[in-house]
Amino acid sequence: MKNLADRFSLKGKAVHVVGGTGLLGTAIVKSVAESGGHVLILDVNEKKGKALAVEIKKKGQKADFSYFDLADLDSAESSLENLTKRYGMDVWINAAYPRTKDWAQPLEKMSLGYLKENVDLQLNSCIWTSRKAALLMKKNKVKGSIIHLGSIYGVQANDLTVYEGTPMTGEAIYCAVKAGIHNFTRYLASHFGSSGIRANCICPGGIFDNQNKNFVKNYEHKVPLKRMGTPEDVASVALFLASDASSYMTGSAVMVDGGWTII
Ligand SMILES: NC(=O)c1ccc[n+]([C@@H]2O[C@H](COP(=O)([O-])OP(=O)(O)OC[C@H]3O[C@@H](n4cnc5c(N)ncnc54)[C@H](O)[C@@H]3O)[C@@H](O)[C@H]2O)c1
Repeated sequence: MKNLADRFSLKGKAVHVVGGTGLLGTAIVKSVAESGGHVLILDVNEKKGKALAVEIKKKGQKADFSYFDLADLDSAESSLENLTKRYGMDVWINAAYPRTKDWAQPLEKMSLGYLKENVDLQLNSCIWTSRKAALLMKKNKVKGSIIHLGSIYGVQANDLTVYEGTPMTGEAIYCAVKAGIHNFTRYLASHFGSSGIRANCICPGGIFDNQNKNFVKNYEHKVPLKRMGTPEDVASVALFLASDASSYMTGSAVMVDGGWTII
């Protein structure tokens, strides 16, 4: 058996991070590389992705960028097959956030087209790609780890009071999409458990990103730890779930929320 601390290392693992140039994705990508993993940055943002890979490689760590459109469901399967042939795949992390340009519509204003398109972009793309990732892990006899980004709003409805005094609004279908992602994660864990493939979900609370001052104040007032989260708060949990340190965890929805969901 490995030294216990070694179980946190990602050395020798190929870790695919889709949405790897986003707010959370970038922190996850950097921490995977720091932990010895070969990080595959998959994103539609080619410029940022290539620059991030160069930055990581300069430190002597392992990273590559590949253009990958999570929402292109017709080509997702063959893209994942090619990526796996080229790099292998031990860990699949979905930190992408594909959404329509007019995302964040209040319930009263959203159209049927908006609803369908966003469910397709955010929920169906997640299901379709992690299904394929799990099937590839099984075919290649890899005891892999699949990690989805859920949310506190996958287990609770939005607290609309945090938007008081701001032009911001609670998004109407986000909580349905996230609850779907949480429960599909559980299904994957059940279906692939006998192959040693694990699937878990990280459920962040609000992450600080220079939001409206009133929103930040309202949010911090409510949350027990009295601050918003940081991308690194989320990345360290992703590292744990990606590594062998979490080898007996599957189907979990891990709250990274400063205590938001306990009150
Ligand atoms: N930021 C938060 O406060 C927060 C809180 C809870 C949950 N989350 C969840 O975490 C995840 C990441 O959120 P974020 O704040 O980092 O988002 P972000 O918008 O900062 O980053 C999203 C990334 O996804 C990429 N992307 C968009 N469409 C894509 C596509 N079709 N194919 C591939 N990549 C695509 C973008 O280029 C970007 O790099 C989301 O699922 C979000 O719901 C975020």
